Amino acid sequence: MKIVFASPAPPDGGALVVGALEGRKLTPSAKALDKMLKGGLTRAVKASRFKGKKDESLTLLAPSGVKADRVFLVGLGKAADLDALRLQNIGGRIYAALGAKGHSTVSVAVDAIDKCKLKPSEMAAEMALGARLRSYRFDKYRTKEGRDKKPTLKTLRLRCQGAGRARAAYAVAAKVADGVFLTRDLVSEPANVIYPESLAAEARKLTRLGVKVEVLGVREMKRLGMGALLGVAQGSAREPRLVVMRWNGGKRAKGKKPIAFVGKGVTFDTGGISIKPSGGMEDMKWDMGGAGVVIGLMKALAGRKARVDAVGVVGLVENMPSATAQRPGDIVTTMSGQTIEVINTDAEGRLVLADALWYCKERFDPKIMIDLATLTGAIIISLGNEMAGLFSNDDRLCKRLSAAGAAVHERLWRLPMGEEFDKQIRSEAADMKNVGNRGGGSITAAQLLQRFVGKTPWAHLDIAGVTWSKADKPTVPKGGTAFGVRLLDRLVADYYEGK
Ligand code: BES
Ligand code: MN
Ligand code: ZN
Repeated sequence: MKIVFASPAPPDGGALVVGALEGRKLTPSAKALDKMLKGGLTRAVKASRFKGKKDESLTLLAPSGVKADRVFLVGLGKAADLDALRLQNIGGRIYAALGAKGHSTVSVAVDAIDKCKLKPSEMAAEMALGARLRSYRFDKYRTKEGRDKKPTLKTLRLRCQGAGRARAAYAVAAKVADGVFLTRDLVSEPANVIYPESLAAEARKLTRLGVKVEVLGVREMKRLGMGALLGVAQGSAREPRLVVMRWNGGKRAKGKKPIAFVGKGVTFDTGGISIKPSGGMEDMKWDMGGAGVVIGLMKALAGRKARVDAVGVVGLVENMPSATAQRPGDIVTTMSGQTIEVINTDAEGRLVLADALWYCKERFDPKIMIDLATLTGAIIISLGNEMAGLFSNDDRLCKRLSAAGAAVHERLWRLPMGEEFDKQIRSEAADMKNVGNRGGGSITAAQLLQRFVGKTPWAHLDIAGVTWSKADKPTVPKGGTAFGVRLLDRLVADYYEGK
């Protein structure tokens, strides 16, 4: 779908979208259209239950008097509530309603609205972003899907005052959307296509955007002593990889520390010898979601040329049971020198991250370090599928992350950490074990990670509940969500750029 911005103009074919505020208050464009229709829009509103609320809409097909195959009146809700997120949602809903209705062009008339803090050009850019995010589709393997089921929308045109400004604002947002789409692609791909080596190859493609990409293989990781990551990988026929991505968009003042993102990239998690039940195991193709977010984020930052020095590190492994797999009771030595008793081979993400975090900290000494991981089923019990778990050793970083999350509707909820929880992973045989007791499973997982970050201001996002969605949301179609890309891009933009 192409997104274009243009000046206000009369209807010229395709589908036409106009708005109404709560209380059936037509916007200026809607009123003008109503006139052309000789009051047809007002009559339709009166004949229906349409009130202009935010989830409502009304359709007129092929009305006479205007050049439009369809008029779509979209509810805008209350003017005072029309913020960026609301407008993105409206854009997403417009796409959902009209993307596959047979029209190749949809034109949206965007008006200035009293009490709305955004200018029409800003409103148009937000709506465009929402529509773009909603238009994502992973259909490359659906070879038999009928043409009548495929989207028809080729051009979304937003008409507003200041179209040039809207175009410029959207151009930046579109780069973030590109990162989101890459992440969604990566988590949607099955594990026979995306495995450590192929995922590393996908990351390597970011070189084209100016990202420096290094891929470490088994030999290098052995030399570094990454016994925990390698222990997880040893049961698989697929070799592990550790990928380091660097985007140097900052001023590069000497001695300035980068910010760092670390991702769990388990390209398939069978559980290993502590094997998972078969029901639903296919979901474990997206156990590389954290790595997918880090890769998509690096694409977004490079794409929009963010003025920041950012590092992305992803640990890529496949967790399989086999004759060479690690066993419950095995003790592995991490790169940090600390040893871990592997009580449960299904608690593998923390083993991968233990080495990835330590490596990142040692090599880059980052200003902040944020990891993302589909780490625990327990976080789904705590927070469901609406929020990700946030764990951290730094209050300021938490505040910033929470604010960024609220701004893009990728919300975080902080959970506690502490000595009492840390005790749970003490081991008789090694420095720690990889699981705690039954309760507080997400917290004990975070406690293990914390043992590998030193004094670095660090946050861990447990995204197990939000990486995949079973239902359509206004700007997130069901499937891979890429939760985290927009959040962290926003964090960078608001707190770490040009500073
Ligand atoms: N990848 C899983 C966590 C997960 C579960 C992600 C469901 C997405 C949906 C992780 O590796 C895992 O298996 N965790 C175990 C830990 C347990 C063995 C302590 C879990 O949550 O059951
Ligand atoms: Mn597991
Ligand atoms: Zn896992």
